[in-house]
Amino acid sequence: KKMYKIAVLPGDGIGPEITEQALKALKAVAEHFGHEFQFTEALVGGAAYDAVGHPLPKETLDLCYSSDAILLGAVGGDKWADLPPELTPERGALLPLRKLLGLYANLRPAVVFPALANASTLKPEVVEGLDIMVVRELTGGLYFGEKKREDLPDGTVRVTDTLVYTTEEIVRIARLAFELAAKRRKKVTLVDKANVLESSRYWREVVANMAAEYPDIEFNTMYVDNAAMQLVKMPKQFDVIVTDNMFGDILSDQASQLTGSLGMLASASIGGKIGLYEPSHGSAPKYAGLKRANPIATVMSGAMLLRYSFDMEKEAKAIEDAVTEVLKKYRTRDIMEEGLQLVNTDEMGDRIAEQILAG
Ligand code: NAD
Ligand code: IPM
Ligand code: MN
Repeated sequence: KKMYKIAVLPGDGIGPEITEQALKALKAVAEHFGHEFQFTEALVGGAAYDAVGHPLPKETLDLCYSSDAILLGAVGGDKWADLPPELTPERGALLPLRKLLGLYANLRPAVVFPALANASTLKPEVVEGLDIMVVRELTGGLYFGEKKREDLPDGTVRVTDTLVYTTEEIVRIARLAFELAAKRRKKVTLVDKANVLESSRYWREVVANMAAEYPDIEFNTMYVDNAAMQLVKMPKQFDVIVTDNMFGDILSDQASQLTGSLGMLASASIGGKIGLYEPSHGSAPKYAGLKRANPIATVMSGAMLLRYSFDMEKEAKAIEDAVTEVLKKYRTRDIMEEGLQLVNTDEMGDRIAEQILAG
């Protein structure tokens, strides 16, 4: 029997408490389906900086390289925001981790669970049944181009961020988007700013050409400003959205609110040998340690880990079904509705794990 090694990086803020709930679900899956998962924890982000002086210690990176998949909570917080950029949790740990592992594709599914149709701030008929997959390019663009801060002779400052993409980077993310769409509702929307940005103009050229290879897939393009508006006006027009690193970051948080809460949005960062799974949200510092955060985004990231790294479709589905069931009765504060039972982070994790074992 294969032993699957999972690196667990809880990180900062609510990271540890939400990660713990995903582990409960994965352990329940192991027990229920007779798998062997070995979990090894390591420090990342501000927690690592405080302990050893670097947000991505070598031991953590080594552990990641020797694992079959990585589960991450979240990193960051005010405490570390003003460190030199290369020592911040975001630029010193999270981005290098994605880059070093070659995780160019970030899948962020915005799915409205049946029980949550009334939990969104949008009208239920607008979001009911929604199932969007945001495919965000994750290792290029503005995040990874040359950055500069220059002090000018007159005492003012000039700052630069560079947006770079190569043919290969665009082709591989678009390929993945088309292939995902082929297994879904067969629609791909490229979101860009081709009326202004040279990089976007080229994305359009490349992706439109590729669309011709997929005659069964409906392809359209949309400027990002319009896409932001369409996402709240008529979100069900979207199936797969493919877009660059920056636009994907913003639009995925926006899409999350359609599902009821940012705390529902899972993510999978794939494309390399070892996948990284983390909620789309951050470390929510104001809730740290309060057991108020919604752990479902992290639990569902665990389901994505099983699906994309271990090819365990029925096991992934077991987690998703358990969440579907539990949401009929139990809610964390961010998605609480009248007549249902309010639970804390731990209790939500327990209910989901029990449901997996019962299912
Ligand atoms: P955030 O995602 O942490 O929080 C945004 C809002 O959503 C806050 O009101 C927060 O309380 C709420 N929220 C987030 N997750 C929630 C959950 N599971 N349950 C209930 N409510 C939840 O974003 P932010 O406040 O802009 O950033 C906080 C820190 O997190 C920053 O340091 C940022 O860089 C970092 N961050 C990290 C990641 C990551 O590790 N992948 C992602 C985003 C932000
Ligand atoms: C995310 C986060 C990160 C990003 C930050 C923390 C670097 O917002 O995972 O969405 O922008 O990619
Ligand atoms: Mn983000």
